Amino acid sequence: MARITSSVYSSHVPAVGAAIDLGKTHEPYWQPIFNGYAPTQQWEKENPPDVVFLVYNDHATAFSLDLIPTFAIGTGSKYQPADEGWGPRPVPTVIGHPELAAHISQSVIQDDFDLTIVNKMDVDHGLSVPMNLMFGSPNAWPCPVIPFAVNVVQYPVPSGRRCLNLGKAIRKAIESFDKDLNVQIWGTGGMSHQLQGPRAGLINKEWDNKFLDRLIADPEGLADMSHMEYVREAGSEGIELVMWLIARGAMSDLNGGKAPTVRHRFYHVPASNTAIGHLVLDNN
Ligand code: DHB
Ligand code: FE
Repeated sequence: MARITSSVYSSHVPAVGAAIDLGKTHEPYWQPIFNGYAPTQQWEKENPPDVVFLVYNDHATAFSLDLIPTFAIGTGSKYQPADEGWGPRPVPTVIGHPELAAHISQSVIQDDFDLTIVNKMDVDHGLSVPMNLMFGSPNAWPCPVIPFAVNVVQYPVPSGRRCLNLGKAIRKAIESFDKDLNVQIWGTGGMSHQLQGPRAGLINKEWDNKFLDRLIADPEGLADMSHMEYVREAGSEGIELVMWLIARGAMSDLNGGKAPTVRHRFYHVPASNTAIGHLVLDNN
């Protein structure tokens, strides 16, 4: 059967993608950030997934105010990098896993989560930047990816509790797929940042680190955090962090198993207008 071996959490700052594309990763401003992901890149080489289930948000790129799915699962065979205003990023086409994605859709929808099925969409920095951070810049991505887009752009957005429970349903779906696949689930976005309005530039290091502590040790308690607290403490775009609870909900300890092992934890300020956070948890 397929199984979820690990969960990976990361910010997806677009300027990090630009630093890669413009050859600036060794500049003093950027180097500490890429150094922070080096242990994970090594670990990914040693523990390659067969499939990544990648939770991210679309930033009004594939979707717009015309159409706002709360949860959208990519069931297509491939996804092109989106043009976000400067042309598509020079990164490989994302290859999907239609068979597993269709199975997950069947199981999760029957478990009462109403997913939007997406067979065709372009994927923006929310997906492509974490791919670079974990896998570097290869000519082709090392494995298929199932994109899973969450609305955290236009209110109302889903609660932390709903995200955690959705993660549990995704785990159940993956573990009932009749093929021996090693699946990683990734949660992206965050950490504290606000890109607009009078509080633009807001970063809250103490709150971010507490969020990481609680994501590891108290995910059920963290799921009760209100939207108001995310926005007040982590800024208007800090709400992206609810997506991390989807990945966390898929881990063993929330489904009758043992607590995960922390493989890697990294936090850095600043990266563009945001704090960068990163965590790797292994199931035991
Ligand atoms: C920025 C955009 C994002 O989507 C994000 O998650 C963090 C930062 C930005 O434009 O700087
Ligand atoms: Fe974002």
